[in-house]
Amino acid sequence: MKEIFPAPPAIVRNEYESVRELFARNVVPSYGRFEIVLSHGDGSYVFDVAGKRYLDLGGGIAVNCLGHAHPAITGALVGQSKKLIHVSNLYFTEPQGRLAAEIVKRIGAGKVFFSNSGAEANEGLFKLARKFGHDEGRFEILTATNSFHGRTLAGIAATGQDKVKKGFEPAVPGFRHVPFNDLEAARAAISPATVAILIEGVQGEGGVTPATPEYLLGLRALCDEKKLLLLMDGVQCGHYRTGKFQSFQRILEGLPGGEKFLPDGLSMAKSLGGGFPIGAFWVRAPFADLLGPGTHATTFGGTPLACAVALKIFEVIENEKLDENARKLGDWILNELNRLAEACPTVVKNARGLGFMLGLELAEKIPAFAPGDKSAAVQFTNRLHALGVMVIPAGTQVIRLLPPLNLKPQEAGEGIAKIEEAVKSLA
Ligand SMILES: Cc1ncc(COP(=O)(O)O)c(C=O)c1O
Repeated sequence: MKEIFPAPPAIVRNEYESVRELFARNVVPSYGRFEIVLSHGDGSYVFDVAGKRYLDLGGGIAVNCLGHAHPAITGALVGQSKKLIHVSNLYFTEPQGRLAAEIVKRIGAGKVFFSNSGAEANEGLFKLARKFGHDEGRFEILTATNSFHGRTLAGIAATGQDKVKKGFEPAVPGFRHVPFNDLEAARAAISPATVAILIEGVQGEGGVTPATPEYLLGLRALCDEKKLLLLMDGVQCGHYRTGKFQSFQRILEGLPGGEKFLPDGLSMAKSLGGGFPIGAFWVRAPFADLLGPGTHATTFGGTPLACAVALKIFEVIENEKLDENARKLGDWILNELNRLAEACPTVVKNARGLGFMLGLELAEKIPAFAPGDKSAAVQFTNRLHALGVMVIPAGTQVIRLLPPLNLKPQEAGEGIAKIEEAVKSLA
């Protein structure tokens, strides 16, 4: 294992309890956390305070695209921090301009606004849509059932899952949900107030469900016909996770009309900074100047430090062809998961996904799982933790694999062997 600098402090026996105690006393308990206290990471692995090693197939929920403690990220952070960490957006800086150009190059003609998180990137898209429809009194955004768009007030209003809204009513007005991958439902839901449709290319929190090519192409035509903005949330499924920069580029690959497809707005975050917080939204050229001076801002948006890291990540992904790795190794993992589903149908219902955004849906009733407040997905995840593998639950029945884009074949093999062990122990 490579040397860690500076060396982590010596592990004391009661470190787990003392950290738990600090949290219990001082941290708002809004997260359902697993009983693991992490101390450091190295590549595709993380280590807890007792020294136990986990293969991290969750990647910080699709964030750590180059794994942990990647020297290129450390180098970019150290190098840029010696020059300029932050200045106000009252001024221009080169890293922000260059990063915007790299994003535009990978999507299409348009412009980019930088934020700090995915929820905030989506907030920008909501404001873009409201500005677009303002003079005609249009403001309503249609989103999909089972979608997830963040935890701000507008984010939970946009999210098509009741569990995130409960207790925070009244909801921000102007959002309605329609079934995902159902073009006719979207058409039927359009009202005179509708201004935009927002979808994820691959629903993540909702359980790893890719949009169909017909749905994407149909929504584009529908939005053109009804003068609506087509907005996409690429926060989780973007940044080469599917094997292409954006999921729609993978889903529509090689299909007639696919190469011309573009949304009007697209949000991103998570892997864009590989763990350093940065979000962004891209706006297609005709609408790129809608948010003029004074209409939208954030103190930390596009700092030189965040942009230097994001630029370096683009460079590593391109030089090491990590898009191809996500596609090829992702295909291999999906095949293996499908093999498990066939071999153990009483435990695994199916496997699905694209590239390194994969979901394993567990069977409805697994006898070995205790009924109670812990979902099947959480109980299965606990079993994998015991075996030294991290995955991310999605809903009650699905576990997600969102590994770093530079995952190695032997690491994928190790992950599959452990998942197989967990599945077989339940069969
Ligand atoms: C599709 C999608 N949109 C938005 C968000 C919110 O991003 P953040 O947690 O950075 O605010 C998430 C987070 O999981 C997400 O998966």
